Amino acid sequence: MKVATVVGARPQFPKAAALSRVIRKHHEEILIHTGQHYDDLMSDVFFRDLNLPEPDLNLGVGSGTHAFQTARMLEGIATVLDDQHPDLLIVFGDTNSTIAGALAAAKLQIPVAHVEAGLRSHNRAMPEEINRILTDHISDYLFCPTQTAAEGLRAEGLDRGIYQVGDVMYDSLLASLPLAKREHDSILARHGLKPGGYYLATIHRPANTDDPETLQRLCQALEALNLPVILPLHPRTEAALQAQHRQLGANLRTTPPVGYLEMLTLEQNARAILTDSGGVQREAYFLSIPCVTLREETEWPETLAGNWNILAGTEPGRISTAAKRPAPNKPPPPAFGDGRAAEKIVEILESDPPDSRS
Ligand code: UD1
Ligand code: UDP
Repeated sequence: MKVATVVGARPQFPKAAALSRVIRKHHEEILIHTGQHYDDLMSDVFFRDLNLPEPDLNLGVGSGTHAFQTARMLEGIATVLDDQHPDLLIVFGDTNSTIAGALAAAKLQIPVAHVEAGLRSHNRAMPEEINRILTDHISDYLFCPTQTAAEGLRAEGLDRGIYQVGDVMYDSLLASLPLAKREHDSILARHGLKPGGYYLATIHRPANTDDPETLQRLCQALEALNLPVILPLHPRTEAALQAQHRQLGANLRTTPPVGYLEMLTLEQNARAILTDSGGVQREAYFLSIPCVTLREETEWPETLAGNWNILAGTEPGRISTAAKRPAPNKPPPPAFGDGRAAEKIVEILESDPPDSRS
């Protein structure tokens, strides 16, 4: 089988690494990077940390409006597909790179596999929600990480190609933890942190960064916590904070984005994690670290089990109460598979190959 895989934004690199490792055992893979993320700390570091093969092509699309990004990607990916004639195109998650890849392939009648299918926030103000819905409805293989995702697709009237395989992010985390552990002590020392003695926070959703009052409230919430807070800054967040010209509280330690292995170490040793990231919510759950989600909804309702994750929105009082709660005493119930999601995906593709569908 000849597979084309499209990646572009940070959360797609761990997912692609898990799947690429298995695909390349017996099949050919062309890795297309759209260039949606391009800074070393938003892209290249993940290739190094995850031992992800160099992309065969980087379309260099870069930043811009949704229309600009999606249109440039669509054109670039379609050209590669026309040239390479893969049997299948694989996309991950819900970014502009995801919808561009899926649409380019669907128009060329190349079967599409959507990994992380069926996720919904039920909030169409999120750009990702549009990308998810459209990608699912033009995909041939819908690889769902959770039961809720698979049931959601059936409720939308999709009845073919739905497979619940588990979460490739869990596969990736399990494969990377031993590597992360090697640098554990030096990473904590470099940040001046002690295990259990700090909070980790990430913020990057436009709903949280682009409204100055909301970002202000989130900063106040983090500043009111009684421990240091390490805040690796997504470039969107860094720009929004700079525009506010605001002095941050002494307990708030901002850093540039960190690499994947460094992030796993910071997550694993945090007292609790505060985030609006989909990936970080799940990583907190996998690592049994209490999570506070800085949103009113989540695509990952399984993480709310046993109080491991709390939806706290952006109001400082709610955030502070959630962050200070004790860690639940029962471990998080398994809900994201067994760390073999990538193997299951490839087994399904081999037993029900794309050429039987086109
Ligand atoms: C994108 C995804 C989002 C995902 C996030 C992961 C969409 C619609 N959104 O959001 O689902 O959660 O990635 O991080 O696809 N920038 C840089 N350097 C980079 C990349 C971006 O400086 O390497 C800056 C640019 O100013 C850019 C801004 O960050 O305009 C936003 O980047 P963009 O890729 O458009 O969206 P994200 O917010 O990263
Ligand atoms: N991540 C990272 N460094 C950071 C922030 C996030 O390595 O400074 C990792 C995180 O551990 C997870 C992925 O990036 O594996 C999630 O990406 P992000 O939060 O940008 O996107 P989302 O998952 O919300 O789409």
